[in-house]
Amino acid sequence: MTGPKDIFSISEIEKCSSLEELARLAKECRKCNLRQGCRGVVFGKGNPRANLMFIGEGPGAEEDKQGLPFVGAAGQLLDKIIMAAGFNTADVYIANIVKCRPPGNRVPAKEEADACKPWLTRQIEIVKPSIIVLLGSVALQNIVDQNARITRMRGQWIKKYGIEFMPTYHPAALLRDESKKRPVWEDIKMVRDSFHRMFGKPGK
Ligand code: URA
Repeated sequence: MTGPKDIFSISEIEKCSSLEELARLAKECRKCNLRQGCRGVVFGKGNPRANLMFIGEGPGAEEDKQGLPFVGAAGQLLDKIIMAAGFNTADVYIANIVKCRPPGNRVPAKEEADACKPWLTRQIEIVKPSIIVLLGSVALQNIVDQNARITRMRGQWIKKYGIEFMPTYHPAALLRDESKKRPVWEDIKMVRDSFHRMFGKPGK
């Protein structure tokens, strides 16, 4: 058994060949201070071979309690969006930029996101999705460009690492501002259409 660790060497993370193995290691991570202020590591959920992945910001109170991403109010809305596009929520994979809840749901600091990145990178390498939806500016900025603006970049495909990225508004933003629902639906329809072109129909 390994104990809590400050640093995992990249090769230790890269050696993980399954999400289960990676999650077990991630649960021991103490690479930033977020782990001290939360109940546990919220690793990810869904189909480990999904063609479609969603990346959010970080766990909130409900996610921290249940140990699963997107299970609170924003998560329920995300599920509705996924299903409205004809996908099964169990067929997609969902993860966050940071895996530990920031205190008071504050935006994760760049250093926290950087410290957590090797876990997300390996998750993406293992799942190998063809399409990733970036939910909100924290996901967009930490994956594409620190200076990117979600209002400007949403709805536009970004090809990186052989993956098609679609930035859109975070579901929590939709809960605060109804006018964001229409653009998110437009973005998700593009995802659905592209998925259909690649794979015929949702599911794998
Ligand atoms: N918001 C996120 O970005 N991630 C979650 O898991 C829940 C809410």
